[in-house]
Amino acid sequence: MEKQLIEWFEWFHKNPELSYEEYKTTARIREILIQAGVEVLPFELETGLIAVIHGKRKGAVRALRCDIDALPIIEETGLSYASCHNGKMHACGHDFHIVAGIGCALLLNQKKDELAGTVKVIFQPAEESSLGALKILETSVMKDVERIWGIHADPTNEIGVLGIREGSVSAAVDRFVITVKGKGCHGAHPDEGIDPVPAAAAIVQALQTIVTRNRNAFHPALISVTRMEAGNTWNVIPETAVLEGTVRTMDREDRILFERRMKEIAESAARAYGAEAGVKWIPGPPAVSNDTFMVEKSIQTAKACGFDVVPEETSMGGDDFSFYEEKVPGCYIKVGTGRGQLIHQPGFKVDERVIWPTVKYLVNLLND
Ligand code: NI
Repeated sequence: MEKQLIEWFEWFHKNPELSYEEYKTTARIREILIQAGVEVLPFELETGLIAVIHGKRKGAVRALRCDIDALPIIEETGLSYASCHNGKMHACGHDFHIVAGIGCALLLNQKKDELAGTVKVIFQPAEESSLGALKILETSVMKDVERIWGIHADPTNEIGVLGIREGSVSAAVDRFVITVKGKGCHGAHPDEGIDPVPAAAAIVQALQTIVTRNRNAFHPALISVTRMEAGNTWNVIPETAVLEGTVRTMDREDRILFERRMKEIAESAARAYGAEAGVKWIPGPPAVSNDTFMVEKSIQTAKACGFDVVPEETSMGGDDFSFYEEKVPGCYIKVGTGRGQLIHQPGFKVDERVIWPTVKYLVNLLND
């Protein structure tokens, strides 16, 4: 099966599709699973699918999440099986996640007689949009699931190394838009208007004090203002200024704190300049946080399978895997895929030799 999985991996790598457009990907996964006699659940979403393996013995319902979408990046790996979809690339290793999930479903299906309980392999669309997991949660798929595992390619570690850690491993991803409203006027007569630009600049500066003055210094968190927009010419004071950016936090209470302080600071700083500010807070996925019991089990199984386990690097990036963890305990494992360019970069590569050991590990993890 190992050779077959590598062939499939190359096919998926060559045929990347963006979030919500994973039609060919879904069709190919379905074809492979059905040919191997694996049950595929009826499913309401247009892309993505669920494989299910019912063990002969009684036991819990477990799930494995494999995300399947690619990114709008022009590939520069030089691989013989590089993307044939111009401007799209599997630059986050989701092609590897797909075949790991397929391998796992196929092997567990062969071992049905000894399998206790049920395993669902969730081939999830649109992780890169941060909302694919929510789409899955709108279906009935997770209703009976009691715990869930997820993996992610990790180009900062060699093959044979797994990063596993208890607690928060990646950040909550929230977005904000602040609109500062002043009163437009001639650039030569600022006294006749209310300039929103200095008010917006003051807000940008003051927001960082949430990180330095309000946050517990032992809690990782950050604010990035990534867009400032005001005016469209040199001699007119604009009516409004807009700030946009992202807040990343690891703790639930910090998320609430940042949203509250951001509103207080933006509104009162704007008022100090005679302007008004409105804050739109757009919540994304919460922090990914690993369950203690599942972490212990994942480490034990990893060692039994010959992996080295290192503490998982925490990241201020996010993963919508956390939406599942709002329902059931979860564990998100980083799989060393060979050191090289980081994820979301045009030269990112997964060493194919990681596929087979990962499949065997996941089968052991899910088969109990
Ligand atoms: Ni990813």
